[in-house]
Amino acid sequence: MAGLSHMRSGMVSVSVTVDGVRRTADVEPRTLLVHLLREQFGRVGTVIGCETSNCGACTVLLDGVSVKSCSVLAVQADGATVDTIQGLAAPDGTLHPIQQAFHENHGLQCGYCTPGMVMRTVSLLQENPDPTEDEVRAGLKGNLCRCTGYQGIVKAVQAAAAALSTSATSTSAERTHAASEVTS
Ligand code: FES
Ligand code: FES
Repeated sequence: MAGLSHMRSGMVSVSVTVDGVRRTADVEPRTLLVHLLREQFGRVGTVIGCETSNCGACTVLLDGVSVKSCSVLAVQADGATVDTIQGLAAPDGTLHPIQQAFHENHGLQCGYCTPGMVMRTVSLLQENPDPTEDEVRAGLKGNLCRCTGYQGIVKAVQAAAAALSTSATSTSAERTHAASEVTS
C-alpha cells in the first residue's frame, strides 16, 4: 500500500482501485474501509452486520486477500485494490461460479451474510481449491449466518470448488488443443 497522498484540514486523500475502477476520496483518518466503500464509492453490496469484526458480512478482497472491511481503516487501503461483491458477476450479469453455486445449493436464506460469505469463499478457494467439508467450515468460521443455514453454504462452497476446477480443466484443455492446432 502506498503512503498517504496528502493531508488537509484533518482529511486524508486515499486512492483505491475498487472493482477495477480507480477511485479517490477525502476521508477522516478514523474512517473505516467499509464506510468508504458504502458511503463514498456506492458499494452498498458490502454490508455491515456488527461493525466489530465478528460477523464477516463486510468481507471484501484487499489486494486479493479477504478482509473484514470494518476492521481496516480506509487509509490502510490507499494505493490498494479492493474487490467487492458488486464486481464479481460478469459485466453482462452472468453470475460468478461461486454466486451460481450459492444460488443452486440454497446457500442463502435472508441473504444478509451472503456478500461476505461469497467474498470469503473466493479467497478460501484460492487458498485451497478442493477443500473438505471440515476445511470449508474452518475456512468460513469468521463468517456468521444468523439463519444458521450453514449446510447449504458448505454444499455451495464445495459445488463452487468443483465448478471452478472443471472450468480450469476445460480452459487448460482448450489451450492444449489450440496449441496443437498451431503446431500441426
Ligand atoms: S460488519 Fe464487519 S465483521 Fe461484522
Ligand atoms: S442467509 Fe441469513 S444471515 Fe446468512
